[in-house]
Amino acid sequence: MSTLNVESGTSYAGILGVGAYRPSILVPNADIVDAIDSSDEWIQQRSGIKTRRFADDSETVVKMSVSAAADALEAAGVDAHQVDCVIVATVSHLLQTPSAATMVAHELGTDGAAAFDISAACAGFCHGVSLANDMVRGGSARYVVVVGVERLSDITSRTDRGTAFIFADGAGAVVVGPSDTPAIGPVVWGSDGEQYDLIRQKEDWRDVLASDSPEMPHLVMRGNEVFRWASFSMAKIAQQALDRAGVSVDDLDCFVPHQANNRITDAMARAMKLPSHVRIARDIVDSGNTSAASVPLALERMIRDGDAKSGDVALLIAFGAGLAYAAQVVTLP
Ligand code: UT7
Repeated sequence: MSTLNVESGTSYAGILGVGAYRPSILVPNADIVDAIDSSDEWIQQRSGIKTRRFADDSETVVKMSVSAAADALEAAGVDAHQVDCVIVATVSHLLQTPSAATMVAHELGTDGAAAFDISAACAGFCHGVSLANDMVRGGSARYVVVVGVERLSDITSRTDRGTAFIFADGAGAVVVGPSDTPAIGPVVWGSDGEQYDLIRQKEDWRDVLASDSPEMPHLVMRGNEVFRWASFSMAKIAQQALDRAGVSVDDLDCFVPHQANNRITDAMARAMKLPSHVRIARDIVDSGNTSAASVPLALERMIRDGDAKSGDVALLIAFGAGLAYAAQVVTLP
C-alpha cells in the first residue's frame, strides 16, 4: 500500500494586517427610540451605545467585505494574488448560496482562492482566525483573509424593543500568514446548543413562505438571559485562553471583547481582574453591536486611535447565537 504525501506549513502564524469598513448612515439613538418607546438615556445606560451605522442599499455584505479585506491586505503588505483562502464570517448574507466569500475572493482579485462562509454568529470572526491559524501552520494555505461582516439592519425589526437599538452594520478583516514568532495563541471555543433559542432567526424560511403574508424573519433575542450567560461564563473562557497561551492578565496590553454591551465588557474585566494598564475596546459606543464584525472593527479602531500598537498582546473573545464562543490571545502586527 502506498503512503500519501502530506504537507506541513510554518511553525507559527500571526495577524499581519487589519482593515475595516464603516458604512455611511449614522444612526443616533434619537432616530431609534420612538418606534420602541425607549430613550437615549436608557440605551446608553443599559448598553453603552450612543450611535451606530447602517449600510445604504449599495453597501452590500460583499462590497463592505472587499473594502475591509483590501485595507487589511494593504496593511499587511500582501498582494491579493498571494491569498490562498478567503473566509467570511456572517449571518446576514441573504443569499443562501453561493457563499459571500467566493464573490469577495473574486472581487478582491485573488487567483481563484479557496473561499467559504462560516456561520458562528458573533463568534464567527474568532472562529475564522482560529481556522486560518491552523491552515497556515498545517500547510493548506500561506495567506488567509478572514472577514467578519454584517448587515444586521436587514434582519432586525425596527419595532422590537429587545434588538432594534443594539444591532448594526459593518465589516472588519485581517490577513493571517506566516510569523517568525508565535503570534496567535491556542483557541478556546465551544457551544451550548441547549440555549439555541436565546438568539435566533424568528422562523425557518419554510414557515415564512407557508404564511399568507410572508415577512422577513427577524432576529429575536432573550437579551437578559444572554446577558447573564455572557457576564457569568465568558470571563472563565477568557481566562482559559490566557492560560493556554501561557500569559497572565499582567502581560496583556489590550482587551478586545465582542462589542455586545459595555456592561458585559465591564463584568468580564472585573471578573478577570484586568489591571488598569490594559486598554479595553469600546467601539460599541458609536458602532453598536455588529456581531461577526465587532471584534475586527474594535481592533482596527484601537490601532487607528493609538490605543493598540505593534507587538501588543491582545485578548480577543466573542460570543453569541448558538450559543457559540471563541477566544484567543494574539500579538498585534
Ligand atoms: O451579540 C450577541 C450577544 N448579545 C448580547 O450579548 C446582548 C446581551 N443582552 C443585553 O445586552 C441586554 O440584555 C439588553 C441591553 C438587550 C437589555 O438590557 P437588560 O438590562 O437586560 O434589560 P431587560 O430586558 O432586563 O429589561 C429591563 C427593563 C424592563 O422594565 P421593568 O420590567 O424593569 O420595568 C423592560 O421592560 O427595561 C425595559 N426595557 C426597555 N426600556 C426602554 C426593555 N427594553 C427596553 C428598551 N427601552 N428598548
